[in-house]
Amino acid sequence: MELLPLWLCLGFHLLTVEWRTRSGVAAAACQRCCQLVDGVADCREQNLASVPSDLPPHAQTLILDANPLKTLWNHSLQLYPRLESLSLRSCHLERVGRDAFQGQARLRSLALPDNALSESYRETAAAFHSLRALRRLDLSGNSLTEDMAALMLQNLSSLESVSLARNTIMRLDDSVFEGLGHLQELDLQRNYIFEIEGGAFEGLAGLRHLNLAYNHLPCIVDFSLTRLRSLNASYNDLEWFLASAGAAAFELEVLDLSHNRLLFFPLLPRSSKLHTLLLRDNSMGFYGDLYNASSPKEMVAQFLLVDGNVTNVTTVNLWEEFDFSDLADLRFLDLSQNQFQYLPDGFLRKMPSLSHLNLNRNCLGTLRIGEHEPPGALLELDLSQNQLSELHVAPGAPGCLRSLRSFNLSSNQLLGVPAGLFADAGNITTVDMSHNQISLCPQPAGVDGGGGPPSCVDLRNVASLRSLSLEGCRLGALQDCSFQGTALTHLDLSGNWGVLNGSTAPLRNIAPTLQVLSLRDVGLSASFTELDFSGFGKLRDLDLSGNALTSFPRFRGSLALQTLDLRRNSLTALPQGAVSGQLTTSLRTIYLSQNPYDCCRVEGWAALQRLHTISDLAMVTCNLSSKVYRVVDLPRGTPQDCKWERVNMDLLYLVLILPSCLTLLVACTITFFTFKKPLLQVIKSRCHWSSIY
Ligand SMILES: *[C@@H]1O[C@H](CO)[C@@H](O)[C@H](O)[C@H]1NC(C)=O
Ligand SMILES: *[C@@H]1O[C@H](CO)[C@@H](O)[C@H](O)[C@H]1NC(C)=O
Ligand SMILES: *[C@@H]1O[C@H](CO)[C@@H](O)[C@H](O)[C@H]1NC(C)=O
Ligand SMILES: *[C@@H]1O[C@H](CO)[C@@H](O)[C@H](O)[C@H]1NC(C)=O
Ligand SMILES: *[C@@H]1O[C@H](CO)[C@@H](O)[C@H](O)[C@H]1NC(C)=O
Ligand SMILES: *[C@@H]1O[C@H](CO)[C@@H](O)[C@H](O)[C@H]1NC(C)=O
Ligand SMILES: *[C@@H]1O[C@H](CO)[C@@H](O)[C@H](O)[C@H]1NC(C)=O
Ligand SMILES: *[C@@H]1O[C@H](CO)[C@@H](O)[C@H](O)[C@H]1NC(C)=O
Ligand SMILES: *[C@@H]1O[C@H](CO)[C@@H](O)[C@H](O)[C@H]1NC(C)=O
Ligand SMILES: *[C@@H]1O[C@H](CO)[C@@H](O)[C@H](O)[C@H]1NC(C)=O
Repeated sequence: MELLPLWLCLGFHLLTVEWRTRSGVAAAACQRCCQLVDGVADCREQNLASVPSDLPPHAQTLILDANPLKTLWNHSLQLYPRLESLSLRSCHLERVGRDAFQGQARLRSLALPDNALSESYRETAAAFHSLRALRRLDLSGNSLTEDMAALMLQNLSSLESVSLARNTIMRLDDSVFEGLGHLQELDLQRNYIFEIEGGAFEGLAGLRHLNLAYNHLPCIVDFSLTRLRSLNASYNDLEWFLASAGAAAFELEVLDLSHNRLLFFPLLPRSSKLHTLLLRDNSMGFYGDLYNASSPKEMVAQFLLVDGNVTNVTTVNLWEEFDFSDLADLRFLDLSQNQFQYLPDGFLRKMPSLSHLNLNRNCLGTLRIGEHEPPGALLELDLSQNQLSELHVAPGAPGCLRSLRSFNLSSNQLLGVPAGLFADAGNITTVDMSHNQISLCPQPAGVDGGGGPPSCVDLRNVASLRSLSLEGCRLGALQDCSFQGTALTHLDLSGNWGVLNGSTAPLRNIAPTLQVLSLRDVGLSASFTELDFSGFGKLRDLDLSGNALTSFPRFRGSLALQTLDLRRNSLTALPQGAVSGQLTTSLRTIYLSQNPYDCCRVEGWAALQRLHTISDLAMVTCNLSSKVYRVVDLPRGTPQDCKWERVNMDLLYLVLILPSCLTLLVACTITFFTFKKPLLQVIKSRCHWSSIY
């Protein structure tokens, strides 16, 4: 019986000792702290000065990123002959030993970005020669010039993907990528390339994706890489893009020429599979009207091609070339931030598959759609920030926008839209008409402009519509049935002064479905105290900022409200328990700043803060005798009668009264001593007199 506890104690002691030594062993292995999972050794940021030698020999992936290796020594990888992937990002590598990769016959992926391999590039290039199976090589961010790059890539014929991004390459000639017949992907972005010689990519029969973004290319002429699927030449100085004129079939699917200086629509291959064409932020326009021609057929451009001492003049008929370009598969066309004043007739007809057209920030004055070119596949049309004053939809093309889901007409000069436009677009869900001077149908009796076309936008019975922005449209007071027959979930009426004229009645039709409502700067005033959102059962986001509300809106019934914005109003008190109690269930975020709160009436804020997130709490201020205090700085637990204010006021009174009192006291004392005798006599006589009594 006595032995048992001893045995238990011993057992326990032994266990703890064993546990301790085990953890000691673990710590020793963890000095390298490489995480080993399924053949992957991850040794990132371990301050290693060399390749660790105690990793499992069957490791297939070795990640040594962000260790200060400086040099990859000869044979330092020979312990790991099964490596397939090696990553040495940001290792301050200047030198890679000639024999560093010897025996690495299986290595398929080698990542060396952000090192200093330009330092001893010859030895590094020699080291690469033993990598017979290499498929992916990342040399980005190594300050390599074109000559260094050429040397490093020499004879690496197995390569499929190469990144030379963020280096200092300036020109490309036919020697740089010689012998890389299997290369499919080449990333040259963020170099200083200003010239690409004719045959530079000629040997790259397998090239599919070429990225030349962020370089200094002035033009791409005679583009003839027929096998290429995607070309990214964004952020260059391109003034021209000209595909070779032959009838060769191009595989091109994605062409990104955005952020360049193109003046004309690019002259694209006559046969291609182009589905995405990105031309954002150029200076393009159609110039038919400059030539005063009924059609722009006479537009001609002459190119001077200088090659050595030979100068060739090529004449190109711009419109014909555009007419010849194959845009039949085009689905996504981004023409935003250009100078288009009009789209020529037949423009959309060439793109029967177009689903997204972005014309944001151009100079369009009128737009005609429909007649011979119903863009029946169009899902998204962005015409925002133009100067559109007229929109024509051919009368003979009902439902020509039948697939359209999103239509952005924001920031134009529209006074209305063609009658029935939205009714015909049977799939439309999102309309942005903000910042146009429109009015909604039905207009109040007597406002209608007589016999002319209806000058109001009719949104009634557009059953598919879900999201509508009418911000800053100078809408008059809404009639009660403007949104009848719709099931709007998102509505923005901000910046329309007086749009609600004292009640939420115009929103009654959509109250059951509305989820997000913005009523910023609409002039809801003090007389509108009983703002009643009781029927808005699904409303979760309400913006009432920038009005003149003097009291909290009323929320009754089951309300889903999560966010409430009451900034820039005329609230003087925080909501009392009863009001805030209604909101407790769902409300998460509330904005309350920039209201002239009375410091004596903010006592509820601590409780309020416990219930909801007051996102702008630090900016909520209140006034007390024309001073402004931050509510967070007020003493906590202020009782109902604003005691701390009284304390302050008492102090103030004391300070004001004290000098007067002192003066009076001094005066009294002087008087007392001056008239001491008579006074005493008086008292005496009085006393005398009283004593008689
Ligand atoms: C690697 O070995 C070669 C000789 O094979 C030698 O010239 C070179 O300096 C060595 N490099 C490093 C980094 O040790
Ligand atoms: C590259 O390969 C060619 C022929 O396959 C050979 O003549 C040349 O010496 C090789 N270059 C290097 C640097 O290994
Ligand atoms: C082209 O490259 C730029 C810069 O890397 C990138 O922002 C853009 O998304 C690329 N374009 C395409 C179509 O991938
Ligand atoms: C354009 O040409 C037509 C004749 O084709 C002529 O009547 C008109 O005045 C010209 N307009 C301008 C602006 O030159
Ligand atoms: C110039 O034009 C001739 C004849 O069309 C053609 O053979 C030659 O290759 C062209 N040269 C250049 C630099 O485009
Ligand atoms: C111009 O090119 C021709 C061959 O096309 C050559 O014979 C001649 O030397 C060149 N002239 C100059 C000045 O380079
Ligand atoms: C419409 O375009 C404007 C300006 O480009 C943009 O701010 C707004 O978010 C767009 N509206 C929609 C619904 O996408
Ligand atoms: C919605 O779009 C589809 C596809 O374009 C079309 O077939 C359908 O008729 C459209 N629905 C309405 C109500 O217009
Ligand atoms: C606004 O409401 C008042 C009554 O509440 C009504 O007399 C007036 O006509 C309304 N104004 C408009 C423009 O509907
Ligand atoms: C509160 O102070 C602000 C800023 O000094 C002033 O504009 C506002 O009229 C004051 N409000 C009250 C109720 O004193």
